[in-house]
Parts: sequence; structure tokens; C-alpha cells
Amino acid sequence: MPETRVRVLFDEETIAKRCEELAAEIVAAAPKDLLVVAVLKGSFMFAADLIRALHRVGLQPQVEFMHLSSYRAATVSSGQVTILRDVESAIEGRDVLLIDDILESGRTLVFAKDLLAARGARRVLSTVLLEKPGKRAVHIDADFVGFRCPDMFVVGYGMDIAHSYRQLPFVGVIDTASSAPDLFEPK
Ligand code: IMP
Ligand code: MG
Repeated sequence: MPETRVRVLFDEETIAKRCEELAAEIVAAAPKDLLVVAVLKGSFMFAADLIRALHRVGLQPQVEFMHLSSYRAATVSSGQVTILRDVESAIEGRDVLLIDDILESGRTLVFAKDLLAARGARRVLSTVLLEKPGKRAVHIDADFVGFRCPDMFVVGYGMDIAHSYRQLPFVGVIDTASSAPDLFEPK
């Protein structure tokens, strides 16, 4: 395999600080009987950090996982969302916090939100680590956003390209000849 380099976009320290801020925003929304639902696979690292930050601000959420797929091996969305693994807990009457990695077209989040609302959630809140502005195919905003992300395919901190790079502790972009440094927007 040719050596590839990943340019850091959001480093560990920046992400950790933002997780604490997000937890403070979330506790201010006064969630009741909170069920956190992490959307797999991409959100696993963000969810692990954010859930511990939620503990530090005094919340006692229950934690569940939902595995959704809108991507195949390519970097372009198929446009269709399928459930690969569903939550097991009852949703009715509860406040749910969906955690996802990236809000892009919005299809994944709309699908998950509608599903949990249809099951009788009292309130479905959502948080995403990254938001790519101007990419929405459906109308939705996340309630709590970590960072706005340049319109590039990012990897790391749980996110992959063809199953690689999820292990990186930071968010970055694959360094290729075509991605010059000045393509990046300042944070
Ligand atoms: P949406 O349904 O178009 O909003 O897509 C959201 C999902 O697409 C995210 O949960 C990610 O799994 C995936 N995705 C979108 N952009 C990227 C990216 O730049 N890198 C890795 N995964 C991405
Ligand atoms: Mg995802």
C-alpha cells in the first residue's frame, strides 16, 4: 500500500474541549429520562467521549446504539438509509439524544429522528460532531453541533474511508496532491 498521510483538521485537544462545551449545552436543555442513541459506526468515538462528558455535568443517560447505513464503500451517499441494527430500549415518553458523526445531506438524521419520534419519544434532540454546510438534501438542523467542517471527505475519530482510519484520535483529511493547504477554511 502506498504511504498516505492524513492532515489534521481538528486535533485531540480541540475535540476534547468541544465535547465538554457540548455537554454543558446539552445539560442546559434539561433532558428528562435521557436515552442517548449513538448512530454507528462513525459516531462511536465521539459518543464515548461525549457520554463521559455528560456524566461530568451530572447527567445519568442510558446508552443505546443504532447502526444505520447510507454509505457503501464509496464517498458518495447512496441516498437511502437502512437499519442494520435497531435500538432495544422502549422509547415512549423519553427524551432521546441522537449522536452522529457528520451531518451532510441530512438523510441519516431525519430518518433516525422520524423513527424515534414515531415510537413516541417525548423529545428527540440531536448532536453531531461535524456539520458540512450547504450540503443538505433534506431540511434538518442538529440541536448541538461540534464544528463546521469544510466540504471535504474527512476521516478519523471514528470516521472512515472504506473501513480505514477510524482509529485516528483526531479528524483529518487524506493528503493528496490535489488538496493544497489553502483549500482549508480556518476553524
Ligand atoms: P447524510 O445522511 O448525508 O447526512 O450523511 C451522514 C453520514 O455520512 C455520516 O453519518 C457519515 O457516516 C457519512 N459521511 C458523510 N460525510 C463524510 C465524510 O466526510 N467522511 C466520513 N463519513 C462521512
Ligand atoms: Mg454515519
